[in-house]
This record gives sequence, structure tokens and C-alpha cells, in this order.
Amino acid sequence: MIEVKTAQQIELMVKAGKILAACHRELRKLIRPGITTLQIDHFAEEFIQAHGAKAEQKGYQDYPFATCASVNDEICHGFPTQTPLREGDIVTIDMVVNLDGWLADSAWSYPVGHIPDRANNLLKVTKESLYIGIAKAVIGNRLGDISHAIQNHAETNGFSVVRDFTGHGIGRKMHEAPQVLHYGRLNSGIRLFEGMVFTIEPMINLGSYDLTIDSNGWTARTADGNLSAQYEHTLAITKNGPLVLTEQD
Ligand code: MF3
Ligand code: CO
Repeated sequence: MIEVKTAQQIELMVKAGKILAACHRELRKLIRPGITTLQIDHFAEEFIQAHGAKAEQKGYQDYPFATCASVNDEICHGFPTQTPLREGDIVTIDMVVNLDGWLADSAWSYPVGHIPDRANNLLKVTKESLYIGIAKAVIGNRLGDISHAIQNHAETNGFSVVRDFTGHGIGRKMHEAPQVLHYGRLNSGIRLFEGMVFTIEPMINLGSYDLTIDSNGWTARTADGNLSAQYEHTLAITKNGPLVLTEQD
């Protein structure tokens, strides 16, 4: 069952999204060689709390941190650590903000200092894939149109789309219906309608999409050790097109 959101409810989610976007804007300045992902995690948690909100991931199904911090071959759900980031790394920071019971979810991949061209290209194509997907999020299109557009862009550029994690509806709960696949066929899946709110969050790999899960039970990493990137926004379907709740500009 998809829970339709009213315009008033979407306004509340917009407020959560603005805090999350502002936090990412700060992280962009903070992330450089030498900082640890635990320092980033603490900054984000305090930033969110200072804005009267809660970092929803902490304690979610016993997840122990405010953020997921996934470095290089880590795809998602990386644990923040005390290891300093190094020049040339890429790191994805994923977090969910809860403001007065309404949630927003956004992940962003960051370069650490100067990074190799192939890593830069992966970041560029992954971000483009997200926005190409968002452009398809209009009333009357189908979910599969979003999925297909993302897969097509990633694969055309020689990359692969992770299969095991999907976007999701979001509202008062982090994970609601529907699932939003980042691969799929045109003209498949349910039709999009006004008041749907969901995430699009493609995880794109330099090599194959096969993955393994670490012994912590959470962290997904590429089976072949190649890089993985991810960009995620929360968006609402409106009469005027997709409304991105977590836009950083
Ligand atoms: N933000 C993630 C998502 O996109 C959720 C991470 S799982 C958690 O679904 F346990 F870290 F919260
Ligand atoms: Co999400």
C-alpha cells in the first residue's frame, strides 16, 4: 500500500529535507584528506540535532551510527571509523533526518582531495543517473521508466547498477512502498501519481554489480574490489513535476 501525502505533509518533509541538504553542504567543505568518517558522523549528528531534528538511522534496526560512510569499494551501509580518509578516496555519506516525525533521506558521494579521472567519471555518471531518473518522475510515467533511464545511462558509460538495494517510499517511516529499482524496463511497474514521495538512490559500480556483506552484517562492498558511488534524493510527485526535497542548491 502506497501512502499518499497531502501538500501539507509534503511541506513538513520539505523542512526535513532542507536540514539534510544544509548538512550535506557543510560536509562538502569538511571532507578532505585526514578527516575520519567518525568525525564526519559526529558533525552530522550534531548538525541535525542543532536544527531541532533527529538522525533517524541511529538505532534503526540496531544500526549504530547517525550516518553510513562508505569508502571506495564499499557500496552502502559502511560504518564510520577512526581511519583518516586519504587523498584519492571517494566516500558516500548517507543519512536520514527526522523533523517532527517526518523524514527525508539523502546520500552523496564526495571526492577526497584530488581523485583519479576514472573515479571522477564514476561520480559524474552516477550523479547524472540520479538526475536522469528524477526527470522521469512525472505523473503518468511508470516506475520502470525511472529504473530504465538510470540503468541505460550507467551501462552506456560502461558501469553496472547494483541490484540488491533499491529506492523506497518514505514519510513517517524510513522505508515505505513502493520499491524503486535502478534497473528495469520501459513502460513497466505502477503509474506515478500526485502525492507519492520516494527516494531514488542509484549505487553504480566501476566493475561488476556483485557484492559481499561484511561480518558486521551491514556493510556491502563490491565483490571485485572496484569503486562504487551513490547519489540519493527524496522527491515528491507533484502536478508541476518532481519536487526534490533534499536539493542542495
Ligand atoms: N538511508 C538508507 C536508505 O537509503 C538507509 C540506511 S539503513 C540504516 O534506505 F540502518 F543505516 F539506517
Ligand atoms: Co534511502
